[in-house]
Amino acid sequence: MKKWTATRIQASKGRAKIACLTAADVAVARLLDDAGVPLILVGDSLGMTTLGYETTLPVTIEDMVHHSAAVVRGVKQALVIADMPFMSYQVSPAQALKNAGRLVQEAGADGVKIEGGTIRSRTVARLVSNGIPVLGHLGVTPQSVRAMGGYKVQGRKPDEAKMLLADAQALEAAGVFAIVLECIPEELAREITDSVGVPTIGIGAGRYCDGQILVTSDLLGIDSGVSTTFTKRYADLENVMAQAFRAYVSDVDTGVFPAQEHTFR
Ligand code: KIV
Repeated sequence: MKKWTATRIQASKGRAKIACLTAADVAVARLLDDAGVPLILVGDSLGMTTLGYETTLPVTIEDMVHHSAAVVRGVKQALVIADMPFMSYQVSPAQALKNAGRLVQEAGADGVKIEGGTIRSRTVARLVSNGIPVLGHLGVTPQSVRAMGGYKVQGRKPDEAKMLLADAQALEAAGVFAIVLECIPEELAREITDSVGVPTIGIGAGRYCDGQILVTSDLLGIDSGVSTTFTKRYADLENVMAQAFRAYVSDVDTGVFPAQEHTFR
């Protein structure tokens, strides 16, 4: 199987749906890659799922380099996109280029994701013109949780919807290869999807996007402390893991483990 590139993801629009997932470590990355997931996002949601923060705001560029490198080591075919964390790109296009460069050069990521629309046009253009593929992100942009007053569905009001449509077009013009649409009404996601030439990747954005993305721990049923209604649980790993841990504690307690077959002579 050929390696996925940003160009190949972009060319999938209108041809095949794109199933994306997140990863923060090598073991999950390997499994996603083996399952044929074309785009793996090292999302800054790892701040909650892996590092135990309440929001993505404390995640640093060091955290993202560290986790992205681990994911890259587990992947042969998928496109690995690293999230640029809060305050690693907002200051200036030059700051963004320097930090995106670290994610590509030090971690081996294939590209980066940044949150925001028209306001990020110059930054996106700067990264793209320097050879770094960029995935856009509109709708609920968790790094703006303070300004949004929580994780609320965006684009319900006509003026908000109009702005999101303009944002998507601005990101396309700036050169993104695809756009994540998070928690917006399905009809708006459809309108955006129809009005841009790059794929839209939905999360809580309904059925008409060109692709979908979920946070892998949500799909696996491992509680990150954040409850979401738009996610689908494909497993109840939290209970499976808890049972295994309790069985191990009990086996050690009662002397069942280690048994003779686990012992060197
Ligand atoms: O950080 C993340 O995991 C994300 C996805 C929810 C798109 O941005």
